[in-house]
Amino acid sequence: MLRRPLLALSRSDQVKRLVTTMPGSSGIVARFVPGESNASAVEATAALAADGLLVTLDRLGEDTLDRAQARVTVHAYLDVLTRLSQAGLTASTEVSVKLSAVGQALGPDGPAISLDNARRVCAAAREVATTVTIDAEDHTTTDATLDTLQSLRKDFPETGAVVQSGLRRTEGDCKDLAYSGSRVRLCKGAYKEPESVAYQSRADVDLSYVRCLRVLMNGSGFPMVATHDPRLIRIAGMLAGRADRRQGTYEYQLLYGIRPEEQRRLARSGESVRVYLPYGDDWYGYLMRRLAERPQNLTFFARSLLTKS
Ligand code: FDA
Repeated sequence: MLRRPLLALSRSDQVKRLVTTMPGSSGIVARFVPGESNASAVEATAALAADGLLVTLDRLGEDTLDRAQARVTVHAYLDVLTRLSQAGLTASTEVSVKLSAVGQALGPDGPAISLDNARRVCAAAREVATTVTIDAEDHTTTDATLDTLQSLRKDFPETGAVVQSGLRRTEGDCKDLAYSGSRVRLCKGAYKEPESVAYQSRADVDLSYVRCLRVLMNGSGFPMVATHDPRLIRIAGMLAGRADRRQGTYEYQLLYGIRPEEQRRLARSGESVRVYLPYGDDWYGYLMRRLAERPQNLTFFARSLLTKS
């Protein structure tokens, strides 16, 4: 019930100012976002790697509205890739990029600017022997994002795609993307979307997730099962078995700070598990989406504000 209002607030500048300056908000932020600097991101990555977990790093920042800000984001990615390489972490760590953070929303030239910027990040990632995955944002960007992905894959076929089971189109997108060498992250989708393009009930989103997962597991690409949902994690294991997939020919992905004991349990059982680790000071939109997903997170947030202010 709270999901829609919270997702609406995730776009409110006024609420953003209030929440980001409130004393005590850093407690909840640290639970989901382990640091603001590149150095702290690398440190948190090393701790996860020591527990046998893979990582994808996301430099927070979305809806970039000027070229200079997009350039800052690109440089941050280049810098963190260098740091990961120096720390010997690139075998287990890649990066995730939101095209809106590197210029996609900059008017008519946006798609070309973000393609150019994403290409620079892909080139730097390849230089240090790792990869990039292009995050999925709201449905108005899906076509542009998948077009950009196809352009990137001409030079960097290792670039990962992200699709959202909440969108009605996604089973078809999975069919198009389930080819050899194609890394595809399947998530439910974190944005408030209209009925014309998206399933509205959790049950329908979950059923779509299973249909999409079946396509990806039976295809010849590399499925990345991004969910915390215990039922879907079990179904993924079952579908992988039925498709005769060995462990390591697909992976589970969970967000930093969410079900950490499950992340380690899956890894101990021999599965590849990647933790999506967001970092940076622009954490507001990300945090609000996490709060919208789970009322318990909201209680935790309220409690940490009350105890620290
Ligand atoms: P959902 O939120 O429906 O929860 C299902 C069940 O999971 C719950 O009933 C509970 O049992 C368990 N669970 C969930 N949260 C829990 C918690 N905090 N503690 C304990 N149990 C919990 N979205 C997007 O639009 N674009 C993107 O690019 C990405 N990228 C991405 C990467 C990765 C690695 C992940 C895991 C997720 C994303 N997402 C995303 C976010 C995604 O779309 C979705 O919003 C969240 O993952 C929440 O959905 P769940 O699948 O976890 O299920």
